[in-house]
Amino acid sequence: MAACLAGLGGTISSSVCTMSLFLWLTFVFCCSGSAISGLITQAVSSDVQYDATATPQCLAEPGCTMYQGGIIVNPEFSHGTAGWTVFGKGAIEERTSRTKNRFMVAHHRKCPLDSFSQKVRLEKGKFYAFSAWIQVNEGSETVSVVFRTGHGMFVPGGSIVAEQGCWSLLKGGIAANSSSTVDVLFESKNTSKEIWVDNVALQPFSKKQWRFHQDESMEKVRKSRVRFQITYANKRGLAVRGAKFFVKQTKPGFPFGCGMNFHILESTDYQYWFASRFRFTTFTNAMKWYSTEEKQGRENYTIADAMVKFAQDNCISIRGHNIFWDDPKYQPDWVKTLSPKDLRKAAEKRINSVVSRYAGELIAWDVVNENMHFSFFEDNLGKNASSIYYSTAYKLDPTARMFLNEYNTIEYCGDEKVSPGNYKKRLREIFSYPGNEDIPAGIGVQGHFGPGQPNLAYMRSSLEILATTGVPIWLTEVSVEPGDNQAQYLEEILREAHCHPAVEGIIMFAGPAYAGFNTTALADMNFNNTPAGDVVDNLIKEWRTRDFEGCTDGGGFFSTSLFHGDYEITITNPATNSTSTSTFEVTKDSSGRTFHFQIE
Ligand SMILES: *[C@@H]1O[C@H](CO)[C@@H](O)[C@H](O)[C@H]1NC(C)=O
Ligand SMILES: *[C@@H]1O[C@H](CO)[C@@H](O)[C@H](O)[C@H]1NC(C)=O
Ligand SMILES: *[C@@H]1O[C@H](CO)[C@@H](O)[C@H](O)[C@H]1NC(C)=O
Ligand SMILES: *[C@@H]1O[C@H](CO)[C@@H](O)[C@H](O)[C@H]1NC(C)=O
Ligand SMILES: *[C@@H]1O[C@H](CO)[C@@H](O)[C@H](O)[C@H]1NC(C)=O
Ligand SMILES: *[C@@H]1O[C@H](CO)[C@@H](O)[C@H](O)[C@H]1NC(C)=O
Repeated sequence: MAACLAGLGGTISSSVCTMSLFLWLTFVFCCSGSAISGLITQAVSSDVQYDATATPQCLAEPGCTMYQGGIIVNPEFSHGTAGWTVFGKGAIEERTSRTKNRFMVAHHRKCPLDSFSQKVRLEKGKFYAFSAWIQVNEGSETVSVVFRTGHGMFVPGGSIVAEQGCWSLLKGGIAANSSSTVDVLFESKNTSKEIWVDNVALQPFSKKQWRFHQDESMEKVRKSRVRFQITYANKRGLAVRGAKFFVKQTKPGFPFGCGMNFHILESTDYQYWFASRFRFTTFTNAMKWYSTEEKQGRENYTIADAMVKFAQDNCISIRGHNIFWDDPKYQPDWVKTLSPKDLRKAAEKRINSVVSRYAGELIAWDVVNENMHFSFFEDNLGKNASSIYYSTAYKLDPTARMFLNEYNTIEYCGDEKVSPGNYKKRLREIFSYPGNEDIPAGIGVQGHFGPGQPNLAYMRSSLEILATTGVPIWLTEVSVEPGDNQAQYLEEILREAHCHPAVEGIIMFAGPAYAGFNTTALADMNFNNTPAGDVVDNLIKEWRTRDFEGCTDGGGFFSTSLFHGDYEITITNPATNSTSTSTFEVTKDSSGRTFHFQIE
């Protein structure tokens, strides 16, 4: 092994990967023939289409090449190995399938990175979307794409659990933070396995193009185009022509919330700061086992209860966090030393206590927090421990969505345990456990980002892979570590999440410095906004429809595009100047719908 190049595992910190590249893939038009090539060659932002779909199943034939390969030379191996070279030890060869498809194989590998590579030139500030179709010759194995920089650093860019006998789509990417030449290569830890690759693509996007796609997607997934029609109630439905009206959005449809801690109980400033901005929250620690039962048998819900009351008094919905935490470090001290038999008893009491107490009052539960990284309950109580607790939680509180909740799945591409593929596997394990099939499941991705350029390309491809489950995704604990561009990076991350169709909510673990939120402080000790706080306030404003006035046409109609949410419309009767107010709700199902309002 000493002869091997430094592998990725462990030697590359996850922050390296977030700092450097980015990727994203387009899959959209790849199969639609000639229309595509036109799109690809034009360099204008509006021409590059983004498709949020990913291919969940493993295909008998490799799927098409996105972007015709982008900057990859000979992406389909139709010219043999031209443009590609051996990387490390081992051998490469071109093979042809029974259907005459040509693909590339790395075999006789001795080191994880032994594969083949191609040099590409990256330009600073651009995001590069990577995709390739992958297969292994036996069983299944994680295969990653890796970018080797000129400085000899290996930057992971995404991974897939590839299978024998069919082709899986590996998506990922890199954000280039300097202009340089890098080698694109493939890694698999099990060197006995051959890596098969076909239809490789690496497509650059400027930041402007990236933002363009975010905006375009947001427009599509967070707003609906609707029509109003105003008619007279007492004139057999006669249209009111030139009726003036005023529309006000009373509640945003998209849950964009913030964590909260016990300081909320002691500061009216913090209360005002919170309640004037957010309608969704998670208590950072107050519901955790170590908070509610610090000493065995002495449960104390004083703080959690008071926080629930504050939230309810202010119409703030709560995600329950958490029933259990699978990290051995974060058990109440007395729990750490229990025998398995006593642990089982104590844990049963815990879940019954906390879930019954808040049953019907919460929108979600993080049931067994971080159970991909850790396994305290599995190690002590058996491998089905988490599955059983999801079942119990659901029986006690059938209205809350039951979430897994993990870090590094969208924020770092080098953490294989919680890669999107492994996340899907764990999700399946828990919700296909006998009896768990009907539980409303949720995918919680925490989103604790480092101080460097976030790899939004990787983030997007991760969300796409998770989205193939059809399970709602929430970003549950978004934070960005302090650094020169903290506010800008926070904005990029929030926009990326908000524009993704499978993301159904975002909670930040952030807040005023007064309450100790000094990783991502949104306000200082005096509740004045930080730059990150300005970003959040601006997005809250941007993600809702501004109050507007309008006037119906000759048919009594008015058309517009509105953010999802609750609305109030006040209509002035042109004959009498009297006004009447109605309410309506715009959802994703409202697209193309006409809302009818009548006046006397
Ligand atoms: C660029 O990324 C590399 C890691 O890939 C990192 O070491 C370096 O500090 C980054 N440079 C800047 C200017 O962010
Ligand atoms: C590595 O792959 C070989 C060939 O498929 C397989 O026999 C072996 O069990 C694998 N090793 C590990 C550690 O998974
Ligand atoms: C419960 O917790 C509250 C808040 O920390 C504390 O004031 C109270 O004394 C505790 N009750 C008991 C019985 O320990
Ligand atoms: C876990 O659950 C599965 C499905 O019910 C069962 O077949 C298996 O025996 C259980 N394993 C343990 C260790 O309890
Ligand atoms: C962060 O918050 C803690 C707890 O409120 C406080 O004691 C500390 O001084 C803060 N640190 C900074 C750098 O503001
Ligand atoms: C309605 O209001 C407009 C503008 O204020 C005014 O010009 C008009 O005379 C009013 N019409 C009636 C019927 O009161």
